[in-house]
Amino acid sequence: MNTSIHSQWSSKLAFIFAATGSAVGLGNIWKFPYMTGEYGGGAFVIVYLLCVALMGLPIMMAEVMLGKRGRNSPINSMKILAAEAKQSQWWQLLGWSGVVAGILILSFYSVVAGWALAYVPKLATGEFLIINSMPLAEVQTFIDATFNSLVANPYNLIIWHTIFMSLTMLIILGGVQGGLERALTFMMPALFVLLLILVAYAMTTSNFMDGVHFMFDINFNNLLYPNCTATSCELSGDGILAAMGQAFFSLSLGMGAIMVYGAYLPDKTSIAQTTAIVVIADTLVAILAGLIIFAIVFSNGLEPGAGVSLVFKTLPIAFGQMPFGSLFGTLFFILLALAAWSSAISLIEPAVAWLIETKRFKRLGATLFLGILTWLLGLLTVFSFNIWSEINPLFMFPNFADKTFFDLIDYLTSSIMLPLGGLFMAIFVAWLMKKQIIEAELNGSSKHFGYRIWYFLLRYITPLGVGLVFLNAIGIFS
Ligand code: PFF
Repeated sequence: MNTSIHSQWSSKLAFIFAATGSAVGLGNIWKFPYMTGEYGGGAFVIVYLLCVALMGLPIMMAEVMLGKRGRNSPINSMKILAAEAKQSQWWQLLGWSGVVAGILILSFYSVVAGWALAYVPKLATGEFLIINSMPLAEVQTFIDATFNSLVANPYNLIIWHTIFMSLTMLIILGGVQGGLERALTFMMPALFVLLLILVAYAMTTSNFMDGVHFMFDINFNNLLYPNCTATSCELSGDGILAAMGQAFFSLSLGMGAIMVYGAYLPDKTSIAQTTAIVVIADTLVAILAGLIIFAIVFSNGLEPGAGVSLVFKTLPIAFGQMPFGSLFGTLFFILLALAAWSSAISLIEPAVAWLIETKRFKRLGATLFLGILTWLLGLLTVFSFNIWSEINPLFMFPNFADKTFFDLIDYLTSSIMLPLGGLFMAIFVAWLMKKQIIEAELNGSSKHFGYRIWYFLLRYITPLGVGLVFLNAIGIFS
């Protein structure tokens, strides 16, 4: 067994809360609905769900197991495990890519979480109640203006970004049990209850079923030809790549976040069972969020493809209209920020754990150093929505010509680094690790049916799937 200087979760339940806390976040409530909207609905959802089942679940089990076996930060775990499997030390790069991806994701994640925080006082003061007395057309102008004026002001965004990063650093300072565990145990259930209240509201809206059809009627044209104009339609693998990337992003896979949480897992815990719970909870929250948001979209004549602002332009309408809307609205945005908070922690923890293991840093120093670095990188996202909104760093490449810094960081991490990280984890576990070690860590036996399915998926289907989606995205099949 490999040794660790880190402490462990106090129970299996604590791990489930932590991993669900990492998985459930802005990815489910902010990103999944707006991407579904952008890529035209059902086909995106079905590809997403397939990726969750065929890649997400097997990779999550593999990633937790790598952490539990390595018992260290992703970088050092991979170093130890590569030595154990008599493989090249280059496998550490997998840990490195994760640490970098985590910081990059957190840089924009914190800014968007800041938007959620900024909406808390707006709802608490009843800013959206006025919607009740407005004609529909004015409602749209009003909610557009509210969002646009928030992101147009860089100082405002920086203040909220700073508050969110400080809150994240505060929890990280507390360490595994003191900080992470205590915060998580009450946040998750509260968020879930509020989502259920919103689903109940959504079912009373006039066009709830239109939302359901939008999400579940499968029309591949929308996914495969996302850039259609009146005169031309171009086949593109972007939608499928985006759906796969979203599966990895939403499940926190491929960058060591789940690995580092696995490293704090008590020895006897069942990995298969706990990961299944996390995957189901994460998927459920995304689907519920989609149902709520699209019911509001179609009942108020809004645009499903509104992009990153979608959740901020739809939910306030619901809260403006429903009984106790200000109360529920305030609670909702607080909980959204909390869900983002519990994910943010896991984005930075792999890097913090590594700095501590190098022994040159205490938790305080590591947290401050990485927090400030992430905060600075976050400014790229802040400015992408205002003073640099016209700056497209990769303007010379047609596929990226209109992307801002924020778009590029999001694309690089979600669509490339996470799936690639997951691919290499799958290859490492299913092709290079000793079977006895895997069986011991999973408390399983290779004769067990579920185990055999998992191994088969991880060995063949997952790598093939990720590979094909990548090839498709660079246009090999078109
Ligand atoms: N899974 C989180 C979400 O859906 O919001 C985001 C995330 C957290 C991605 C941790 C990656 C990660 F390692």
